[in-house]
This record gives sequence, C-alpha cells and structure tokens, in this order.
Amino acid sequence: MSLSPLAIFGGTPVCREAWPSPNTIGKEEKKAVLEVLDSGVLSQFLGAPGPDFLGGTRVRQLEMEWAEHFGTKHALSFNSLTSGLQACIGAAGIEPGDEVIVPPLTMSASATCVITYGGVPVFADVDPRTLCLDPVSVEEKITDRTRAIVVVHLFGHPADMDGLMAVARRHGLMVIEDAAQAPGAMYGDRPVGTIGELGGFSLNYHKTIQSGEGGVIVTNDDDLAQRLSLIRNHGEMVVESLEVENLANTFGGNLRMTEIEAAIALEQLRKLEVSTRPRIDLASYLDERIVRFHGIEPQGLSAPEGSSHVYYFYAMFYDEEEIGLPRSLFAEAVRAEGIHLREWYAPPVYWAPMYRDQVAFGKSGFPFVSEYTDREFSYERGICPVAEEAYEQNLIFGKFCHWPLTTEHMDQVVEAMDKVLAHRDDLLTVEQGG
Ligand SMILES: Cc1ncc(COP(=O)(O)O)c(C=O)c1O
Repeated sequence: MSLSPLAIFGGTPVCREAWPSPNTIGKEEKKAVLEVLDSGVLSQFLGAPGPDFLGGTRVRQLEMEWAEHFGTKHALSFNSLTSGLQACIGAAGIEPGDEVIVPPLTMSASATCVITYGGVPVFADVDPRTLCLDPVSVEEKITDRTRAIVVVHLFGHPADMDGLMAVARRHGLMVIEDAAQAPGAMYGDRPVGTIGELGGFSLNYHKTIQSGEGGVIVTNDDDLAQRLSLIRNHGEMVVESLEVENLANTFGGNLRMTEIEAAIALEQLRKLEVSTRPRIDLASYLDERIVRFHGIEPQGLSAPEGSSHVYYFYAMFYDEEEIGLPRSLFAEAVRAEGIHLREWYAPPVYWAPMYRDQVAFGKSGFPFVSEYTDREFSYERGICPVAEEAYEQNLIFGKFCHWPLTTEHMDQVVEAMDKVLAHRDDLLTVEQGG
C-alpha cells in the first residue's frame, strides 16, 4: 500500500499514466465501411411497398446474424434504441391512458418511450442489490390500466426475470426488456433481452458494441415484428399492401439504420464475445479484492447463480456509516488518485421537470391528466425510496472493466481505494476545517 500523501493534498497519484482507450473499432469495421462507401448505397430503405421497405443488404445481414446470435425469430435494426423502444411501445398497442411500469434508475428513454403513444409511465422501485426492478414493487403498482413492464438490466446486471415474468403472467402484461447496457449478459441459459416479448440493445458510442448510433429490437412474435417494421418506416404508406388486421399505432416515422451503421454493427456483433469476456474476468478479479473493504459491496455479487453480469459499469454499494467518510469525499479523493470513480448515475427519472410538473404534450397535462384516465399520478420525491437512496447515498461506480485494461489497472483501483481509506482521518480533519 502507498504511504505517500493523498493526491488530493498534492501527493503522487496512484495512477500516473492515462488508461488505454477502449476503442474496439478495427480494420474489419474500416474495410466494411469502405465497401459501403464504394457501393454508393449508404441506405437502401424506401417508405413504399416492395423489398426495400425492409432496408438494404447490410441492414438485413445484421438483422439475420443478430437474430441467429441471440436465438430469436426476428431482429430489427433502428437508428437508436430510443427509437426502438418507442416502436416497441407502439407495437405493444399502448394507447392514451394505458399505464406502463418502468424503473426509475435508468436512462430517460426507458420511460419516455411510453409517452410517445400517450401512455403513462408508472415508476416501481428497484431491488437494493441488483438496482433493477423489484417484482414486489412492480406488483404493487399494477392497476386495471397497466399493460406492460419495461425492465432495464442496469449496468449489465440481469434483472430478476423469473420474478418479473411471473408478475407479468399473473396480470397478463407484456414485458419489454431494455438491454441497452447488457448485450451478452445471460439469465440462466437465455441471453437477456430475449426473455420478454420484446427486447432491445443500444449501439450508441458508449456501448459494448457500437456503430456510433443504433439499436436492435428482438422478438419471437411475427405480429410484433411486422408492427415494428411499419413504425420504423412510414407504415401508413405500405400497410394496405401488407393487409395488417389492426391498424392501431401503425403510422410510421423514419427510425431507420443506415448501411454504414449496419456494416459497423455487424463487425462489432462478431466481436461481442471478445469484448465481453475481459469485462467479466476483470470484474471477477476486482470483486475478490473489493470484498475485503468492510462497507463496500460489489453489485455483481447479487447476480443470480448461473447468470452473468457484463459490467457496462462496475458498481458498488458504499456504506457511509461503516466506512466513516462521506461518499462524495471518498469519491473525490479516489478520483484525485487517477481513478474515475463516480458517485451518481442519472437522478431518478421521475425527478425530471416533465414528470414533476406533468407537462409533456402542450400544457394540458396530457398524458398524465386526460379524458383517457381517471387516475391521479404522482411523481413526488419519495415514491421509489430504494432508487433515491442509491442515487443520493450509497452507489459508487466506474467504467473499470473493459478491453484492453488488465489486472494491473484493477490493482490501481484497489490501491487508490486502500490509500484513501488509510488516510481517512486526514480527509475528515480537512473536511471539518481542521
Ligand atoms: C438503459 C438505456 N436505455 C436506453 C438507452 C437509449 O439508447 P440510445 O442511445 O441508443 O437511444 C440507453 C442509452 O444510453 C440506455 O443506457
């Protein structure tokens, strides 16, 4: 352990060199992009009846390989997962006044997608150890207007799908899995994202496999797949040629992926295992060393037996009382040692002004207040106490586990935490103005 003064007080930081970049874009992606550029066909979608309604060669190849990889009947690409989730809500037939249960700890799109079709997001609380939806809280929020649940596998940690699917089956609800952060994570022998009726993955720049922007939705249901394809590409223009039975929500947009993005995504998909393995191995190395800090517990230890967390973020629970240092001070001191430890993810989604003030479309309060519902919705602080506590008090995390980092980098994380804890009294003296 280093005995030098803390870097926050001018000492030498544990980490003296910048960590290497996690860029997995290689010669395969470059070659694939050049081939698309040479062809001149940068997107082949057409919002009209005919084969191009379903996109070009790379888009279809990506969808075929994606479905094969994840073992689903269908995979449909989108220009983002935000678009894909909106299409899922449309395909699920959500109508004004319908309620969809969503988690509060996530990126906002997991909840706002519901609003696109006039549905109302209802927040259920998370489990304190997985940070994913708690089936008990979900069941408490169900009313006769509830139609679906959006489950998020936060930070790559699989949610309790057995518990959540059981609640959904009991109440006849559709399950949409937001696996934006979890491609490659397994729940038993099934990839997360493939257990509910619909599941989605993000391909934005920050994700494990990326194409700049992009998203993919998977399903085993033919009708849902057709509806997704209509919503993706100006469905009203082709719906007659397809003889769709129920026209609800089949008006479309332009939610289409380009051939360039699809070409990159295809190469990235082929590297999924190579990109995921180091995440799991490095996290397991870190878990073994973090457990000795009394008052800091890795999130990954709560993954159910036989499942796999894929560590989009490496998260830990920080017990301020046991450690004897405010979370923010601990995180700041660790950051000064060169380790980018964060103490908050996004605030609970319902803290956003749109929910707090119940203003989405225009100023009338729709869809929270409307002729389609006689319920009163509340987005006050306190409705999901476990999520709020994680955000305000006990979550710490970082992007520590990914290629090309090594166990030496993990040792630096541990050393920085060790060093800060060894100097706890110095930090407290300064904080108390000593
Ligand atoms: C949990 C979650 N859901 C949805 C999204 C939206 O994905 P995209 O950026 O592809 O629209 C993200 C992106 O960060 C996410 O992390």
